[in-house]
Amino acid sequence: MQITLKILRRESPDTSPYWQSIPFQTEDENATVATALTNINSGNGLTDTEGNAVRLPIQWECSCLQKKCGACAMVVNGCPVLACNAQLKQFGKSSTITVEPLRKFPVVSDLVTDRSIIFENLKTLRLWFAQQAQTDGDIAYESSRCLQCGCCLEVCPNFYAGGEFFGMAGFVPISRILTALPESQKQELCQAYRKRLYEGCGKSLACRNVCPAGIDIDKLLINSNAVAVWKRFFRKR
Ligand code: SF4
Ligand code: SF4
Ligand code: FES
Repeated sequence: MQITLKILRRESPDTSPYWQSIPFQTEDENATVATALTNINSGNGLTDTEGNAVRLPIQWECSCLQKKCGACAMVVNGCPVLACNAQLKQFGKSSTITVEPLRKFPVVSDLVTDRSIIFENLKTLRLWFAQQAQTDGDIAYESSRCLQCGCCLEVCPNFYAGGEFFGMAGFVPISRILTALPESQKQELCQAYRKRLYEGCGKSLACRNVCPAGIDIDKLLINSNAVAVWKRFFRKR
């Protein structure tokens, strides 16, 4: 397999981004974007398709290489994916694949972005108060599969870093707690859910289609809306 990785590179936040096309060859039918980046980074004296020296290493993040940690999220051919789960063959055996950092977060270097806003948002929701709550098994399992990778935020038309709306990376963890809390402790969290999640969500579910964990987002939404939104209205009548 002979492909070209066209990578959007940037040395630091203070420098301008530029595209660099780097050829990559492999016999491994199951090679992924992560495989290609690892192999390129282990090379010496590489040149791009224009004959220019390639600045190495290409910066990117990874940990598990098994679709479990969410660290390697990036945009490949316009779609947010986990690099360790994106097989090159799905893009054709001889083609150019574009590789960019996630666009909703500040770039640190090359393909590394600062996704700390996801965790800051979760801190705002103060979910740790409810960690001891007795959770519903199915909902808790579905919710716990979130990798906090940010792929859902990449395609969400309503999310931007620092905005009031927290997106699906906030929805999924909160849904685990909402159903479990006793009525007396629920109010504050239900209010946060409506303000930070429900009211900003257009329900297009673009996020569901790109979630690499395949989380049953519909199920979590239906459940959380029932608890935090509809019950509230039913009570008013
Ligand atoms: S909901 Fe899916 S896409 Fe969004 S952060 Fe969690 S695992 Fe990633
Ligand atoms: S349903 Fe649409 S608006 Fe709501 S979190 Fe998903 S992508 Fe964003
Ligand atoms: S390196 Fe952990 S999900 Fe890809």
